[in-house]
Amino acid sequence: MKVLVVGGGGREHAIVKKLKESKEITVLYCAPGNGGIAADAVCVPIKATDVEALAEYAAREQMDYVVVAPDDPLCMGLVDRLSGRGIPAFGPDKAAARIEGSKVFAKDLMRRYGIPTARYEAFDDARKALAYVAQARCPIVVKADGLALGKGVLICQTNAEAEAAVDEMMRGGRFGASGSRVVVEEFLEGPEVSVLCFTDGTTIRPMVASMDHKRALDGDEGLNTGGMGVIAPNPYYTPEVAQRCMEEIFLPTLEAMRREGCPFRGCLYFGLMITADGPKVIEYNCRFGDPETQAVLPLMQSDLFAVMRATTDGTLERAEVRFSGGASCCVVLASGGYPKQYETGKPITGIAGAERNACVYHAGTRLDGDGNVLTAGGRVLGVTAVAETLPEAIRKAYAAADHIHFDGLHRRSDIGARALKALE
Ligand code: AMP
Ligand code: GLY
Repeated sequence: MKVLVVGGGGREHAIVKKLKESKEITVLYCAPGNGGIAADAVCVPIKATDVEALAEYAAREQMDYVVVAPDDPLCMGLVDRLSGRGIPAFGPDKAAARIEGSKVFAKDLMRRYGIPTARYEAFDDARKALAYVAQARCPIVVKADGLALGKGVLICQTNAEAEAAVDEMMRGGRFGASGSRVVVEEFLEGPEVSVLCFTDGTTIRPMVASMDHKRALDGDEGLNTGGMGVIAPNPYYTPEVAQRCMEEIFLPTLEAMRREGCPFRGCLYFGLMITADGPKVIEYNCRFGDPETQAVLPLMQSDLFAVMRATTDGTLERAEVRFSGGASCCVVLASGGYPKQYETGKPITGIAGAERNACVYHAGTRLDGDGNVLTAGGRVLGVTAVAETLPEAIRKAYAAADHIHFDGLHRRSDIGARALKALE
């Protein structure tokens, strides 16, 4: 079978590497891919957001299946375009992708169906939003409605900060059209858990739960990023919490989407906070998480391609979805300055040394004319190690990451530290 993966980051590299294990796939393509994916798949130079060109390419090349990994093409309706041409694809259609593409849609859905989440108000009128946050209890959280690369969320300590945030989003246009509507919500506290789930709209199969590290610097200081590292399993996701999540959040969300006429198929990502009142939804994503996928898929023992097709066919109930009992740790190596300004084009050394004991997923890399690997993005590589226990996985991941060098390399040195504390 010919399979195309859409995207070009660390998440897509992890998906490509896992799909390569499937005997049914004869040729794997990736659009656009990157410097590392080029070693595992045929890279096709079409941007992930060029949905018309992607659908046309998939039809022309007679792809048997397409995996749409990033949020943008999902929200733009790439899966709908592919099915329109008779090509089955992994991921939600445009209507179901709204669960990530519009925070107002997601929050209204949760309110309507009694799914636990932070209390909130949604606004499309800047004056009303300003009046509301001027008197709200702080801290308070202001979120742009649309996709904003994880940067459209501002946690405000004072009313003045919240007013400035609303003003910037709704009047300053900092997030473009994404900020023309905002959600203002209650600040929640507790450990965060990411749960990625396969679903065909009716059956849901959670993967091993993970913990992202979103802030740029050690000790959860610095700016929010796309994610600086991940560990799995997440010790805060106990069997009791898992059961509550299934009953109070996962199954009700699937049912809500069915009742709204937009059943969700693909990977549904639950960003949860384990509060004193129980687990609550912080956000939904309509796709695999990045970097969560780089820690979760290495622990998957079943055939990813078979499971993906079962979500498309509606046969997930009969599919085998198994994970190892071990642990994993992914340390992200970033360009100095990320998530703000950073330089690219720096030669990377030591990848082969790191690969002796770990898996190196490429996020922002490219090859030069001589086949040298250069930095090409903010998050450059994800170094993942798997072991029997979490402490061993963390040690192995850092030992492997120590081999890798490039100018300005920045990484956190405490990925997994909070999880280890929880295990004590
Ligand atoms: P999001 O893009 O919605 O996942 O938000 C990014 C990050 O902001 C989350 O991972 C949380 O750490 C934090 N956050 C979002 N919403 C809240 C909330 N209501 N209370 C506390 N922290 C939040
Ligand atoms: N790591 C968070 C996300 O993928 O949105």
